[in-house]
Amino acid sequence: MIEGKRVRLRGVELSDLDEIMKYWNSMELRNLVGSADAGPASRSEEEEWIRNTWKQRQERKAYHFAIETIKDNKLIGGTGLFSVDWTSRSAMMGISIYNPECWGKGYGRESIDLVLSFAFQNLNLNRVELDTFEFNERARRCYLKAGFKEVGRRRKARFVDGQYHDAIIMDILKDEWSTKS
Ligand SMILES: CC(C)(COP(=O)(O)OP(=O)(O)OC[C@H]1O[C@@H](n2cnc3c(N)ncnc32)[C@H](O)[C@@H]1OP(=O)(O)O)[C@@H](O)C(=O)NCCC(=O)NCCS
Repeated sequence: MIEGKRVRLRGVELSDLDEIMKYWNSMELRNLVGSADAGPASRSEEEEWIRNTWKQRQERKAYHFAIETIKDNKLIGGTGLFSVDWTSRSAMMGISIYNPECWGKGYGRESIDLVLSFAFQNLNLNRVELDTFEFNERARRCYLKAGFKEVGRRRKARFVDGQYHDAIIMDILKDEWSTKS
Protein backbone atom coordinates (compact mmCIF):
# COMPACT_ATOMS: atom_id res chain seq x y z
CA MET A 1 0.00 0.00 0.00
CA ILE A 2 1.14 3.50 -0.72
CA GLU A 3 -0.30 5.56 2.10
CA GLY A 4 -1.02 9.26 2.02
CA LYS A 5 -2.98 11.37 4.50
CA ARG A 6 -6.47 10.90 3.06
CA VAL A 7 -5.97 8.29 0.35
CA ARG A 8 -3.95 5.17 -0.23
CA LEU A 9 -2.99 3.42 -3.47
CA ARG A 10 -3.37 -0.35 -3.59
CA GLY A 11 -3.66 -3.07 -6.23
CA VAL A 12 -6.95 -3.36 -8.11
CA GLU A 13 -9.09 -6.27 -6.82
CA LEU A 14 -11.91 -8.24 -8.44
CA SER A 15 -14.07 -7.05 -5.53
CA ASP A 16 -13.69 -3.51 -6.97
CA LEU A 17 -15.77 -4.51 -10.01
CA ASP A 18 -19.17 -3.36 -8.66
CA GLU A 19 -17.88 0.12 -7.91
CA ILE A 20 -16.00 0.36 -11.22
CA MET A 21 -19.10 -0.67 -13.18
CA LYS A 22 -21.15 1.99 -11.36
CA TYR A 23 -19.06 4.82 -12.81
CA TRP A 24 -16.69 3.74 -15.57
CA ASN A 25 -19.27 3.70 -18.37
CA SER A 26 -20.45 7.26 -17.71
CA MET A 27 -19.94 9.26 -20.91
CA GLU A 28 -18.99 12.34 -18.86
CA LEU A 29 -16.09 10.46 -17.31
CA ARG A 30 -15.15 8.75 -20.59
CA ASN A 31 -15.04 12.09 -22.44
CA LEU A 32 -12.71 13.52 -19.78
CA VAL A 33 -10.30 10.60 -19.99
CA GLY A 34 -10.62 10.35 -23.77
CA SER A 35 -12.00 6.83 -24.06
CA ALA A 36 -15.62 7.51 -25.03
CA ASP A 37 -14.96 6.06 -28.48
CA ALA A 38 -14.38 2.65 -26.90
CA GLY A 39 -18.09 2.39 -26.07
CA PRO A 40 -19.52 0.91 -22.87
CA ALA A 41 -17.38 -1.83 -21.37
CA SER A 42 -18.94 -5.05 -20.13
CA ARG A 43 -18.34 -6.46 -16.66
CA SER A 44 -16.34 -9.32 -18.18
CA GLU A 45 -14.09 -6.89 -20.03
CA GLU A 46 -13.45 -4.96 -16.82
CA GLU A 47 -12.71 -8.20 -15.01
CA GLU A 48 -10.20 -9.05 -17.74
CA TRP A 49 -8.70 -5.56 -17.41
CA ILE A 50 -8.23 -6.07 -13.65
CA ARG A 51 -6.52 -9.44 -14.21
CA ASN A 52 -4.29 -7.77 -16.79
CA THR A 53 -3.18 -5.11 -14.29
CA TRP A 54 -1.68 -7.87 -12.13
CA LYS A 55 0.16 -9.39 -15.08
CA GLN A 56 1.46 -6.02 -16.31
CA ARG A 57 2.81 -5.19 -12.85
CA GLN A 58 4.55 -8.58 -12.56
CA GLU A 59 6.12 -7.97 -15.98
CA ARG A 60 7.07 -4.40 -14.95
CA LYS A 61 5.15 -2.98 -17.91
CA ALA A 62 2.56 -0.94 -16.01
CA TYR A 63 1.53 -0.17 -12.42
CA HIS A 64 -2.20 0.31 -11.95
CA PHE A 65 -3.56 1.27 -8.56
CA ALA A 66 -6.96 1.61 -6.98
CA ILE A 67 -7.40 4.87 -5.04
CA GLU A 68 -9.07 4.25 -1.69
CA THR A 69 -10.02 6.66 1.08
CA ILE A 70 -8.20 5.99 4.35
CA LYS A 71 -11.16 7.09 6.49
CA ASP A 72 -13.63 4.49 5.21
CA ASN A 73 -11.63 2.24 2.83
CA LYS A 74 -13.86 3.28 -0.07
CA LEU A 75 -12.71 2.89 -3.66
CA ILE A 76 -12.90 6.32 -5.32
CA GLY A 77 -10.80 5.97 -8.46
CA GLY A 78 -7.83 4.58 -10.26
CA THR A 79 -4.41 5.82 -11.25
CA GLY A 80 -1.14 4.43 -12.48
CA LEU A 81 1.91 4.38 -14.66
CA PHE A 82 2.03 2.68 -18.03
CA SER A 83 4.16 2.54 -21.21
CA VAL A 84 7.20 2.29 -18.96
CA ASP A 85 10.43 2.74 -20.93
CA TRP A 86 13.20 1.31 -18.76
CA THR A 87 15.97 2.56 -21.05
CA SER A 88 14.88 6.19 -20.94
CA ARG A 89 13.42 5.77 -17.43
CA SER A 90 10.19 7.39 -18.55
CA ALA A 91 6.51 6.46 -18.18
CA MET A 92 3.01 7.74 -18.85
CA MET A 93 0.59 8.53 -16.01
CA GLY A 94 -3.20 8.47 -15.89
CA ILE A 95 -5.79 9.16 -13.21
CA SER A 96 -9.52 9.01 -12.80
CA ILE A 97 -11.60 9.81 -9.73
CA TYR A 98 -14.81 7.97 -10.61
CA ASN A 99 -17.62 9.74 -8.76
CA PRO A 100 -18.18 13.43 -9.74
CA GLU A 101 -19.16 14.05 -6.09
CA CYS A 102 -15.54 13.32 -5.17
CA TRP A 103 -14.06 15.79 -7.67
CA GLY A 104 -12.46 19.02 -6.44
CA LYS A 105 -11.87 17.70 -2.91
CA GLY A 106 -8.11 17.22 -3.11
CA TYR A 107 -8.15 13.44 -3.69
CA GLY A 108 -6.71 13.77 -7.19
CA ARG A 109 -3.86 16.00 -6.14
CA GLU A 110 -2.86 13.71 -3.25
CA SER A 111 -3.09 10.59 -5.44
CA ILE A 112 -0.82 12.18 -8.06
CA ASP A 113 1.74 13.06 -5.37
CA LEU A 114 1.71 9.40 -4.27
CA VAL A 115 2.11 8.06 -7.83
CA LEU A 116 5.00 10.46 -8.49
CA SER A 117 6.66 9.46 -5.24
CA PHE A 118 6.38 5.78 -6.28
CA ALA A 119 7.68 6.60 -9.79
CA PHE A 120 10.71 8.56 -8.63
CA GLN A 121 11.56 7.02 -5.25
CA ASN A 122 10.70 3.37 -5.84
CA LEU A 123 10.99 2.76 -9.57
CA ASN A 124 13.80 5.30 -10.03
CA LEU A 125 12.11 6.76 -13.10
CA ASN A 126 13.42 10.08 -14.38
CA ARG A 127 10.37 11.43 -16.21
CA VAL A 128 6.60 11.07 -16.09
CA GLU A 129 4.38 12.27 -18.92
CA LEU A 130 0.64 12.60 -19.37
CA ASP A 131 -1.78 14.22 -21.71
CA THR A 132 -5.07 15.93 -21.14
CA PHE A 133 -7.55 18.02 -23.11
CA GLU A 134 -7.82 21.78 -23.29
CA PHE A 135 -11.41 21.53 -22.00
CA ASN A 136 -10.39 19.58 -18.87
CA GLU A 137 -9.42 22.61 -16.81
CA ARG A 138 -9.76 20.75 -13.51
CA ALA A 139 -7.22 18.14 -14.61
CA ARG A 140 -4.83 20.70 -16.13
CA ARG A 141 -4.85 22.82 -12.96
CA CYS A 142 -4.41 19.74 -10.80
CA TYR A 143 -1.38 18.58 -12.83
CA LEU A 144 0.21 22.05 -12.72
CA LYS A 145 -0.22 22.10 -8.92
CA ALA A 146 1.42 18.67 -8.73
CA GLY A 147 4.47 20.07 -10.59
CA PHE A 148 3.85 19.04 -14.20
CA LYS A 149 4.79 21.50 -16.94
CA GLU A 150 2.95 21.98 -20.21
CA VAL A 151 5.46 21.02 -22.90
CA GLY A 152 3.40 21.00 -26.06
CA ARG A 153 0.18 20.34 -27.84
CA ARG A 154 -1.00 17.90 -30.42
CA ARG A 155 -3.34 20.16 -32.36
CA LYS A 156 -6.86 18.87 -32.90
CA ALA A 157 -5.48 15.42 -32.19
CA ARG A 158 -8.56 13.92 -30.54
CA PHE A 159 -12.21 13.87 -31.58
CA VAL A 160 -14.30 14.00 -28.41
CA ASP A 161 -18.03 14.60 -28.08
CA GLY A 162 -18.51 15.94 -31.60
CA GLN A 163 -15.44 18.15 -31.89
CA TYR A 164 -11.70 18.02 -32.45
CA HIS A 165 -9.64 19.05 -29.41
CA ASP A 166 -5.99 19.79 -28.78
CA ALA A 167 -4.24 17.25 -26.56
CA ILE A 168 -2.05 19.06 -24.02
CA ILE A 169 1.18 17.22 -23.27
CA MET A 170 2.63 17.68 -19.78
CA ASP A 171 5.63 16.17 -18.04
CA ILE A 172 7.67 16.29 -14.87
CA LEU A 173 11.31 15.33 -14.30
CA LYS A 174 12.67 13.72 -11.17
CA ASP A 175 14.90 16.67 -10.25
CA GLU A 176 11.97 19.10 -10.58
CA TRP A 177 9.88 16.86 -8.34
CA SER A 178 12.71 16.55 -5.78
CA THR A 179 13.16 20.31 -5.51
CA LYS A 180 9.39 20.80 -5.27
CA SER A 181 8.85 18.32 -2.39
C1 LIG B 1 -8.79 15.45 -12.83
C2 LIG B 1 -8.88 14.91 -11.42
C3 LIG B 1 -7.87 13.78 -11.22
C4 LIG B 1 -8.51 16.05 -10.44
O1 LIG B 1 -8.64 15.56 -9.14
P1 LIG B 1 -9.57 16.32 -8.10
O2 LIG B 1 -9.54 15.56 -6.85
O3 LIG B 1 -10.91 16.55 -8.71
O4 LIG B 1 -8.82 17.72 -7.99
P2 LIG B 1 -8.25 18.38 -6.66
O5 LIG B 1 -9.36 18.63 -5.71
O6 LIG B 1 -7.10 17.56 -6.19
O7 LIG B 1 -7.79 19.77 -7.23
C5 LIG B 1 -6.48 20.07 -7.59
C6 LIG B 1 -6.43 21.48 -8.11
O8 LIG B 1 -7.24 21.56 -9.28
C7 LIG B 1 -7.98 22.76 -9.24
N1 LIG B 1 -9.39 22.49 -9.46
C8 LIG B 1 -10.20 21.69 -8.73
N2 LIG B 1 -11.45 21.73 -9.26
C9 LIG B 1 -11.39 22.58 -10.32
C10 LIG B 1 -12.32 23.03 -11.31
N3 LIG B 1 -13.59 22.63 -11.28
N4 LIG B 1 -11.89 23.87 -12.27
C11 LIG B 1 -10.62 24.29 -12.30
N5 LIG B 1 -9.68 23.89 -11.42
C12 LIG B 1 -10.07 23.06 -10.45
C13 LIG B 1 -7.79 23.45 -7.96
O9 LIG B 1 -7.03 24.60 -8.24
C14 LIG B 1 -7.01 22.49 -7.12
O10 LIG B 1 -5.99 23.17 -6.54
P3 LIG B 1 -6.08 23.67 -5.01
O11 LIG B 1 -5.36 22.60 -4.26
O12 LIG B 1 -5.38 24.96 -5.02
O13 LIG B 1 -7.53 23.79 -4.66
C15 LIG B 1 -10.33 14.41 -11.08
O14 LIG B 1 -11.21 15.51 -11.10
C16 LIG B 1 -10.83 13.37 -12.06
O15 LIG B 1 -10.41 12.23 -12.01
N6 LIG B 1 -11.74 13.77 -12.95
C17 LIG B 1 -12.41 12.85 -13.88
C18 LIG B 1 -11.46 12.13 -14.84
C19 LIG B 1 -10.39 13.03 -15.40
O16 LIG B 1 -10.64 14.15 -15.82
N7 LIG B 1 -9.17 12.48 -15.42
C20 LIG B 1 -8.02 13.17 -15.99
C21 LIG B 1 -7.91 12.89 -17.43
S1 LIG B 1 -6.51 13.71 -18.16
